[in-house]
Amino acid sequence: MGLLDGRIALVTGGESGIGAASAKALAAEGAAVAITFYADAQAAGAVRDAIQAGGGKAMIFHADVGDEALVEAAFAAVTAELGPPDILINSAGLNMSGVPVADMSLAQWDRLIRTDLTGAFLTSRAFVRGLRDTRRPGRIVNISSIHSTAVRYGGADYCAAKAGLDSLTRTMAVECGPMKIGVNAIAPGMILTPMNLKAETDPKFLDAADDHIPWGRAGKAEEVAALAVYLCSDKADYITGAIVTIDGGLTLEQALGA
Ligand SMILES: NC(=O)c1ccc[n+]([C@@H]2O[C@H](COP(=O)([O-])OP(=O)(O)OC[C@H]3O[C@@H](n4cnc5c(N)ncnc54)[C@H](O)[C@@H]3O)[C@@H](O)[C@H]2O)c1
Repeated sequence: MGLLDGRIALVTGGESGIGAASAKALAAEGAAVAITFYADAQAAGAVRDAIQAGGGKAMIFHADVGDEALVEAAFAAVTAELGPPDILINSAGLNMSGVPVADMSLAQWDRLIRTDLTGAFLTSRAFVRGLRDTRRPGRIVNISSIHSTAVRYGGADYCAAKAGLDSLTRTMAVECGPMKIGVNAIAPGMILTPMNLKAETDPKFLDAADDHIPWGRAGKAEEVAALAVYLCSDKADYITGAIVTIDGGLTLEQALGA
């Protein structure tokens, strides 16, 4: 018996990092998993194959989460093949540009907001409509960031998008409570994924970063995925509107050096 037997999950950004780890972890607990991918069909296929090799059910679908028509098409395809999803993990995202506002182009700002915030709006809307029509409960987990509150120089695009995502999470928790759709977010700290390429490939950089983390190390995608599984399970039934930090204590370090 898995924690998520009989459930149908859609994971955006499921070809890489936290999305890929979440897709595998959800499947390991019995959910059928649809992975939407953007950049790398081969990587998405490898996640699907790994799930199927373990006896699970999985499919992949290409979608830019910022494109309304593609998101609608993804939900239609998943619903036709697996049924209407009752778990949604919004993991698709781009990292901050590193460009201060004074030098940031509107195109850069728009690109990040569209992917990291509008994307979650579009998928969440399609998800809730599907459940509302069939009167079934469900769970949404948005992958936010500690940078929704802990801002970084050059991160206005990302920090604003993630702050918006936290607000979308809380607002939807209020709207979706009566439908028994739980809406939560996870705020990871430094997690070793392709988004943190420098930390993954440069040991000196990683050592220096680890020094700022009370737990003494960066996090793993699988640790975030385990939290996502919990938030999607019946064990977390009464949790909604929460932003759950998973950062080895990194955010507690703020101001300690002053
Ligand atoms: N790695 C970290 O330290 C960290 C920390 C906090 C939050 N996060 C968040 O976790 C989520 C997953 O990031 P990750 O670390 O696994 O990085 P990642 O780069 O491995 O994964 C990001 C995924 O998003 C997809 N994507 C990018 N643009 C897209 C678009 N327009 N449409 C659809 N998919 C798109 C990519 O193809 C990729 O699969 C992101 O939302 C990120 O902001 C990561």
